[in-house]
Amino acid sequence: MAEFSARDRLRLLAGGSAMFLAGCGGSNPPVNSGSLLGSGDGSGTGTGTGTGTGTGTGTGTNTGGSTSPAALTTGLLRDHYRNNFQIGTALSNQRIAANDLSAQIAADQFGSITPEWELKPEVIQPTPGVFNFSEADRVVDWALANGQTVRGHALVWHESTPDHFLQGSREDIRLRLEDYVSTVVDYFRGRVAVWDVVNEVTSADVYRGSDGVGPDRQEDWFNAVGNADYIDWAFRAARAADPNALLFISEYDTETQLKRDWLIQILRRLSARGVPVDGVGHQFHFFIDTDPAQALAAIDAVDNEFLGLINHATEIDVSFYRDPGTCWQTGTNCLADLGPNAPADMLAQQAQLMRSFFDGMVLRSSVESVSFWGVRDSDSWLNTSPVERFNFPLLFDRDGEPKSAFHAITDPNYVI
Ligand code: XIL
Repeated sequence: MAEFSARDRLRLLAGGSAMFLAGCGGSNPPVNSGSLLGSGDGSGTGTGTGTGTGTGTGTGTNTGGSTSPAALTTGLLRDHYRNNFQIGTALSNQRIAANDLSAQIAADQFGSITPEWELKPEVIQPTPGVFNFSEADRVVDWALANGQTVRGHALVWHESTPDHFLQGSREDIRLRLEDYVSTVVDYFRGRVAVWDVVNEVTSADVYRGSDGVGPDRQEDWFNAVGNADYIDWAFRAARAADPNALLFISEYDTETQLKRDWLIQILRRLSARGVPVDGVGHQFHFFIDTDPAQALAAIDAVDNEFLGLINHATEIDVSFYRDPGTCWQTGTNCLADLGPNAPADMLAQQAQLMRSFFDGMVLRSSVESVSFWGVRDSDSWLNTSPVERFNFPLLFDRDGEPKSAFHAITDPNYVI
């Protein structure tokens, strides 16, 4: 049966303009702007703006007076995995600006920050020749001031490619890309430790089964260049600009066998050509019923190539809705909104999934970083994609309280 990953679903819905939405905040979920730190009255107001489904209604359940999440030991999550891997989260300026609870938890519990959209090409270079680093600087410097490392996401992504990037001849495109990558990586030299150099370049045709065309995504970049050489160009330019940065290829749905096989084919090709790839980023956008063994198999598949590659989990979340493909394609037949209170059995299922996944990850020495795609449930893009609905994908609830999933991965004695 055809399945649509979170990524494809966003793309189908956004009609390829996801980053426009991101740029104006429209694809961000509703955000409770009622202060969770002060003496709020519990009436969160949405700050989602722009087009798309981002006109958020507040989902805040602040009852006032709570100044910090209860029973959350300082640095617990980060420290628990200290000997295994870095623990990270995505974060955006939107949260930092308000100094909201997510930013505070991010500073306390996570050792690595991935700017959620500030380092994407449509933010940095929407118009030819002009580089705008102001948004990126804010979140990067915030993380560095907290002693955190920064994962740079992402230099090349088909959903955040301004039109001018692909105009002209193959040689024009090559020079422009090399200039972009060199300038950005050089600008952040010594500040951004890891780059997702290319994001989602594997074919999405996996959803057409054996009729699909792989291993490369044969869309905008591929068509403009004539083949997938842009991947090589981007990696070589990044290496030249900052020899100390770790360079990653990032992909979603590596927990799917065919997708994984195609990614491995690309890795073999890059290796044979001497392209400087240091690691694989597995996004790991899970569903509540995802089999964690499949995610671990993705790590093993990379390891079994013996290319010396590092593995990172880069965008973990657990959607409580496994919708049919039509929901993501046309917004129809989506599962009904669960409402503001997550069902207890699903929270337990999420906790078990996370525990099994982490238990497997600690056994795999090639894994050096594990990042979530947000802090609180209210942060997540999955509250608005594919439709506006309460989702519960992350480790902290809307009030910033650690959920069962958090306890399951930080306390071996915690009974789920
Ligand atoms: C998403 C962000 O969460 C949104 O805020 C933004 O509007 C669009 O991008 N895979 C990726 C991420 O590689 O960059 C996406 O992030 C989520 C899916």
